[in-house]
Amino acid sequence: MSLLERVSALEAEMAKAKARTAAEVEQFRVAMLGRNGAVTELFDAFKEVASEEKRLLGQRLNQLKKAAQARIDELKAGVQESGPSSGPAIDLSAPSLTEPTGSLHPITIVRQRIVDIFGRIGYTVSQGPEVEDDRHNFGALNFPPDHPARDMQDTFFVHPPDPARKENGGGPDGDLALRTHTSSVQVRVMEGSKLPIRTISPGRVYRNEAISARAHCMFHQVEGLYVDKGVSFADLKGTLDYFTKSLFGQDVSIRMRPSYFPFTEPSAEVDMSCSICGGAGCHICKHSGWVEIMGCGMVDPAVLVNCNIDPTEYSGFAFGMGVERIAQLVYRVPDLRMYWENDVRFLDQFTAGTFRS
Ligand code: PHE
Repeated sequence: MSLLERVSALEAEMAKAKARTAAEVEQFRVAMLGRNGAVTELFDAFKEVASEEKRLLGQRLNQLKKAAQARIDELKAGVQESGPSSGPAIDLSAPSLTEPTGSLHPITIVRQRIVDIFGRIGYTVSQGPEVEDDRHNFGALNFPPDHPARDMQDTFFVHPPDPARKENGGGPDGDLALRTHTSSVQVRVMEGSKLPIRTISPGRVYRNEAISARAHCMFHQVEGLYVDKGVSFADLKGTLDYFTKSLFGQDVSIRMRPSYFPFTEPSAEVDMSCSICGGAGCHICKHSGWVEIMGCGMVDPAVLVNCNIDPTEYSGFAFGMGVERIAQLVYRVPDLRMYWENDVRFLDQFTAGTFRS
């Protein structure tokens, strides 16, 4: 085949060339115009050609080279239009698709706030088991053997109490129940810590209640304990006043009503001026202007003795509140059951940033 024929054959071959990807276009470019490419080879052969043939052959070779470049450009454009990296143009200024993000549960937010507020005045956080023995949940806390909390109607027992032994002052040792309050943790702290003690115990508690808008069989408490020399009822009131004002704002006030708990003497129920209506009266406070927020009292000397603390030297106060109840006042949640349904439309509304304080 003469050189002129080879030029024509190569031209025909180039016209038929195909490429599906940019890599294939590059392969084609190298095969034609690369150092050992077919077009380059013809240019090398051109050098050997007799001078009378050079004019025509030179023109054809230049045409061939241009045609090769044009075909490369064409194939490149084809790949860009239909290749895998193509597709609709990307609008970099378009807003991104937002994925739903999780948020803290309202109970977690409120519990953390309570822990923070007491942390600022030196309270540590203590924890204990949710399955608790009789001594820590009841016995050491001065619950008489016939106290209704010791009844299976009120408490979830893991091992049912033995009535024969109940008569001798408390259920048998090792009697296990789901703790009904986190006062059990306070017993553990008093038994095992050096004095003075200033601690709060947040945690889950369980009571055998029918589930309704106002009650659940599982809820959260934060209980507090302060034991030192010379702790007085005035200290208790000052501490709780500081706490309620920190959480609900400086405008609220508290009052105490006499009450009874087996482990405190004297005992009181704490009411807060209604943070919703400012005391004027609304359906949350049942038009009384006050809402009950916790129980409290001076630790009964018998409880101190049960925990090896000398009541002639030391005194203390304790208090306990339900986190669901506090959160209900903070967020105006009408029905306790909403906390546990985990409906994202409910949960989405709570972020630490929207906390009223
Ligand atoms: N333990 C009590 C309850 O479960 C609350 C409380 C704690 C009351 C400490 C007085 C002192 O309701």
